[in-house]
Amino acid sequence: MIIGIPKEIKNHEYRVGATPSLVRQFVEAGHEVWVQANAGEKSGFDNEMFLSVGAKIVETAKELYEAEMIIKVKEPQESEFSLLKKGQILFCYLHLAPDPIQTKHLIESQVVAIAYETVTDECGRLPLLIPMSEIAGRLAIQIGATYLQLNNNGKGVLLGGVPGVAPARVTIIGGGVAGTESARMALGLGADVTILDRDLNRLRTLDSLFGPSLKTLYSSATSIEESIERSDLVVGSVLIPGKTAPKLVSRPMLKKMAPGSLIVDISIDQGGCFETSRPTTHTDPTYVVDGIIHYCVTNIPGACARTSTQALTNATGNYALMIANKGWKKALIDHQGLRKGLNVCLGQLTNEPVADDLGYPYVPPETVLG
Ligand SMILES: NC(=O)c1ccc[n+]([C@@H]2O[C@H](COP(=O)([O-])OP(=O)(O)OC[C@H]3O[C@@H](n4cnc5c(N)ncnc54)[C@H](O)[C@@H]3O)[C@@H](O)[C@H]2O)c1
Repeated sequence: MIIGIPKEIKNHEYRVGATPSLVRQFVEAGHEVWVQANAGEKSGFDNEMFLSVGAKIVETAKELYEAEMIIKVKEPQESEFSLLKKGQILFCYLHLAPDPIQTKHLIESQVVAIAYETVTDECGRLPLLIPMSEIAGRLAIQIGATYLQLNNNGKGVLLGGVPGVAPARVTIIGGGVAGTESARMALGLGADVTILDRDLNRLRTLDSLFGPSLKTLYSSATSIEESIERSDLVVGSVLIPGKTAPKLVSRPMLKKMAPGSLIVDISIDQGGCFETSRPTTHTDPTYVVDGIIHYCVTNIPGACARTSTQALTNATGNYALMIANKGWKKALIDHQGLRKGLNVCLGQLTNEPVADDLGYPYVPPETVLG
């Protein structure tokens, strides 16, 4: 199979879909790999490194998209839509539920689009989302600490406080992978941290993981409202897999926070969990509503591409090899979890939560696989 690794073109996106180590495995398995020139440069992998493991370097996206399988990081951008081909395999993050335009293009282009974020493992976890959620969760606190500084128009609060001065209050809504890593970082800096989830078993796990230094709360409109009202930093990290994120913080609730406070909406890739959230970029990451700073970047891990590319491909590599070695149909038939990743297939919407949210007829993957 010919595999194409394009250079990412989303704003400040420096990750790449395969490392030289993964390319070597494809080549050793008999595949041909094309890497777009300088695709891995900012992740620490130059063209020479790809050439030395048997890849071919191609100059343009147009040439690259002639490959049979495209492995990338973020969803195709507008200029890439017209490059997609009927029957081509697209393996990357898609986050379709809040993105009707991309969904329409993928359906019309008749690709086989397998989304990292809905692939599951044998325990029902999301193995290809986990590493990026770990990174985004950790980064959210670094980012939060920075934007709470007065020189960034924040309220001038140091997350950990100092002896004699209380630490900042941090609320984290959603105690899954990203939320847990945000809690770890915020506690590490000495902040006063509360985490909310509606899964009681998750709260039990968090309680035994962090002990009494972490406050856990059952998530409801009332507990969220009370907690954010006294918070300096609120992190949104909820997820209902495949679905548009639930709006858990309304504008009237937001107004109760003190001016200069900050929200970091990690869930923005699924549409965001604050009524006032809208996607932003690393170039222009924040905006202010009712005095509250909003940070809503949809590709947070792209800022730490050296770490993120390795973490991502450690997880995606075996799945990508499976697809290349068996062909998409057999790989999806053989692996139930990979099948969950099939979002769009040859003109059909094959992910139920996405179909529900966007009003498309749902065609089960089993139907298209015959
Ligand atoms: N912006 C970015 O760059 C970036 C990067 C990585 C991940 N993400 C996103 O971060 C989000 C979280 O990902 P994750 O891997 O941590 O998901 P996860 O499934 O591990 O955790 C989500 C948690 O949300 C909880 N939840 C659901 N509804 C809730 C509610 N009403 N109140 C409180 N909690 C609720 C779930 O019980 C679960 O524990 C996803 O949307 C993911 O795509 C964004």
